[in-house]
Amino acid sequence: MINDQASMLRKKFSDSNNLNNRTKTNSVRSLSFTSGKGGVGKTNIVVNLAIQLAQMGKKVFLIDADLGLANIDIMLNLAPQFTIEDVLAGTKNINDIIMEGPLGVHVLPASSGISEMQSLTAEQQMSMLKELSCLKTQYDYILIDTGAGIAANVLRFNAAVDEVCVITNTEPTSITDAYALMKIMSSKYHVNTFNLIVNESNLQQAKSVFSRLVTVLNKFLTVNLELIGFIPRDINFVKAVKRQTPLSLLAPKSPTVKSFTDLARQIDIHPGKSIDTDMKGSFWNRLGNWNRNSDL
Ligand SMILES: Nc1ncnc2c1ncn2[C@@H]1O[C@H](COP(=O)(O)OP(=O)(O)OP(=O)(O)O)[C@@H](O)[C@H]1O
Ligand SMILES: [Mg+2]
Repeated sequence: MINDQASMLRKKFSDSNNLNNRTKTNSVRSLSFTSGKGGVGKTNIVVNLAIQLAQMGKKVFLIDADLGLANIDIMLNLAPQFTIEDVLAGTKNINDIIMEGPLGVHVLPASSGISEMQSLTAEQQMSMLKELSCLKTQYDYILIDTGAGIAANVLRFNAAVDEVCVITNTEPTSITDAYALMKIMSSKYHVNTFNLIVNESNLQQAKSVFSRLVTVLNKFLTVNLELIGFIPRDINFVKAVKRQTPLSLLAPKSPTVKSFTDLARQIDIHPGKSIDTDMKGSFWNRLGNWNRNSDL
């Protein structure tokens, strides 16, 4: 049922928001950074990627969608006075809470330690997404750091974006959970193309994780997976988190930061043709669709 409704609504908007139009108008590209298992490096990756894209001259909007357990503000040493919670309460609008992070990256902070935020109702999430869709500011990239796992909040954010970037490390549990996440995104939301980023790995290990996943995916699902990057294990991440300064700023010449530069370039040259682009329309329209259809 969800699939039928999603397909119908996406198709409705496909003509005016296909990939060619997006290329011509240089409109926003939205990507989520998500994982089945927690603690695999999503927030560190998305924060450093945002900085790399900003260094390439891109306008980046970084959304902390790990609702209830927000981390981006801490990693960037921001002290938000207001968060998404205030938007949902109706006391602030999105523009009031956007903060400016390093290199002009705009950040939408979430709240931390508020358990109700972790399990937003579909209606609350629609309302938040509706607020987002009202943003007038033009961005090149919207990067969304989701919570881990297969909670409805996470799945809906992943269903809304142009491209889903699944993050795993080399541990079997993390790989299995990445598969489970893709499986549910495919069966429930018809999202059938994913980018893979392997954290705490070298190229060889990343390729090995990729081929393990492809083998299982090919066996059970019709899903396309693309390896778009890997990030080495680096003890300096801990230092960066402690200093509340992203590694890209703390050690800009390090090999690890080079891997973020490579990832940013890969994403920027990537055709962006994923997740049934012809079916889904633009990020903003999908948010609008959700707003009109609370079952999605
Ligand atoms: N490449 C890496 N090398 C070494 N340590 C890393 C690396 N990537 C992340 N870490 C460490 O792993 C921990 C988890 O990272 P992070 O918070 O980015 O993960 P997450 O997926 O966002 O977690 P959560 O699911 O809780 O949101 C942090 O302590 C971080 O310093
Ligand atoms: Mg995180």
